[in-house]
Amino acid sequence: EKNGFDHFMLKEIYEQPSAITDTYRGRLLVDDGIIRMAGVDDNLERFLNAKRIVIVACGTSWHAGLVAEYVFEDLARIPVEVEYASEFRYRNPIINSDDVVIAISQSGETADTMAAIKLAKEKGAFVFGVCNVVGSSISRETNAGAYTHAGPEIGVASTKAFTTQITVLTLIALKLAKAKGSISNSDFHMHLRELETIPQKVEESLKSNEHIQKVAFKYKDARNCLYLGRGFNFPVALEGALKLKEISYIHAEGYPAAEMKHGPIALIDEEMPVVVIATRKGHYEKVVSNIQEIKSRQGKIIGIVTEGDTSVRELADYVIEVPDTIEALTPLITTIPLQLLSYHIAVMLGKNVDQPRNLAKSVTVE
Ligand code: F6R
Repeated sequence: EKNGFDHFMLKEIYEQPSAITDTYRGRLLVDDGIIRMAGVDDNLERFLNAKRIVIVACGTSWHAGLVAEYVFEDLARIPVEVEYASEFRYRNPIINSDDVVIAISQSGETADTMAAIKLAKEKGAFVFGVCNVVGSSISRETNAGAYTHAGPEIGVASTKAFTTQITVLTLIALKLAKAKGSISNSDFHMHLRELETIPQKVEESLKSNEHIQKVAFKYKDARNCLYLGRGFNFPVALEGALKLKEISYIHAEGYPAAEMKHGPIALIDEEMPVVVIATRKGHYEKVVSNIQEIKSRQGKIIGIVTEGDTSVRELADYVIEVPDTIEALTPLITTIPLQLLSYHIAVMLGKNVDQPRNLAKSVTVE
């Protein structure tokens, strides 16, 4: 049941510290300095011989795939392509027998993802599944896989499935990076130790809930909203926008922050809230200058920032702080305030948060 929460979605947002812990339990062995995942260990040669990895998924799972593209390429130095399953299946894709295809699906029943898997298998690729529902159709159709251990996700808007998918994919990327030697020993151990602190940092991020509620109240009547992020956090911007549109029915778009000037900046006026993921990492200075561009056009800025940030705070209308972590792991943290923001806006607008109109939890038709 809802365990005292008003909605399943909120309960599931709050379950993320334990869901992430359950997902790496028995796999992330920090003291031994190893990552154990039977589905990868048993097929290690296939992964290591792959010239590329193709990820197929839909919706939020596709966003997890996009995060994985950044993580795999950065750590394991394997080229990754991320495809909408629905496009992949119908465009006569080039698939080689030494490709590894990773299919991501919470429900394990999504029709388009299933069809993409069947096609990839026919062409001789090795297909690896990342599913949440044990024994689901996709988990049975794939050659091997690794489950997320998020527990049942009831809210139609996917939350804990997303962060646990990223957890599994990050574990795989680190494991391959170690096996390939594309990461130094010290970096590898640093990532393992940091991954172990993520549930605690998610817990910290959840403490901003009341502050986020105030931000939600301020912007709940917006007609449109933009989400911007760069690098690892570009897919998080897409996911933030999807969460807002699917449960509050406010039109929202996610963009890589630097794409603003190629079109979307024309939308900015004093009515437009812009949520900017601006953690103090890689592209921080560039994101700050993107924020200045929005500010000079009177856009309203909600910054997702690292604890103690001052530069964005000076420019933004609101900031929401998150704990610091290493760059590749920031999506696991920056996602949390975006989930809460859309949740509160939808509740304030009186929408049916757990069962938004026109949507079903698993999409078994194409
Ligand atoms: C969004 C959402 C959907 C699903 C998509 C794929 O919150 O839930 O976009 O992510 O329908 O579903 P799965 O992961 O079950 O294949």
